[in-house]
Amino acid sequence: MVWNPEQYILFSDHRLRPALDLLSQIPLIAPSVIYDLGCGTGNVTSLLSQHWNEAIITGIDSSREMLEKARKDHPSIEWKLGDIAKFSPTSKGNLIFSNAALHWLDHHETLFPKLLAQLRPGGVLAVQMPNNFTAPSHQNLYDLAQTPEWIDKLGSLVRPAPVHNINWYFDMLAPMADKINIWETTYFQILKGKDAVLEWTRGTALRPFLQALEGDDVAAFEAQYAARLLEDYPARQDGSTLYPFSRLFIVVQLADG
Ligand SMILES: C[S@@+](CC[C@H](N)C(=O)[O-])C[C@H]1O[C@@H](n2cnc3c(N)ncnc32)[C@H](O)[C@@H]1O
Repeated sequence: MVWNPEQYILFSDHRLRPALDLLSQIPLIAPSVIYDLGCGTGNVTSLLSQHWNEAIITGIDSSREMLEKARKDHPSIEWKLGDIAKFSPTSKGNLIFSNAALHWLDHHETLFPKLLAQLRPGGVLAVQMPNNFTAPSHQNLYDLAQTPEWIDKLGSLVRPAPVHNINWYFDMLAPMADKINIWETTYFQILKGKDAVLEWTRGTALRPFLQALEGDDVAAFEAQYAARLLEDYPARQDGSTLYPFSRLFIVVQLADG
């Protein structure tokens, strides 16, 4: 899928806050090797490098567009084009960090153990994933894509919710961990402007659907989706839109040596 860095960073304050909440819970003083998986435009990677300025930090992403912006904005950090599913670095990490990326990958039952295997003893895997797949913002998209009008063009893009519940991650990870910290937060995001939730999803969940359409279909699908969103997320009295967004956080530390 082609990402649009400019659209993604439109809501950078809201997207940054969970990354900072995740960062605040990492129980490491001076990790020397850090990987940021699905680093995107590198905003969060650069915070990691400011926080641990002695560390060797590599940002990895499968999007050339996102990495191009990362390289331009943060030339001192190492950026690599790569698929998280095939992550197998020559040097294992003290910290593998991933903010808002692993929900793009399926098969978490094999992905998470594979990532833990790339850590040194005492190393930490720190992950934040949106857990909003049954919220109206996403459900409306999937429901619309499966209506008779759109199913032939878009039906195949609807995938089962990729993120499991907290108990599922705990049961899988606790036997491999020395310490585990796992929590969920719903952020009541206050968005400004017209069609605010549509603008939000345009930067993420809606992208693959629009990319699969051509010509007038793009505007037609977007208009139908926007109308559904306005019903579920009406403007508040001051004109803003409240968009509740749940996120799942996992911080796993391996035993030392
Ligand atoms: C929502 S953005 C998050 C970017 C960044 N972590 C942040 O917090 O701003 C998700 C990123 O994950 C990347 N991504 C998705 N699937 C990937 C994969 N299989 N391998 C590498 N990167 C992937 C996308 O290209 C995108 O840049």
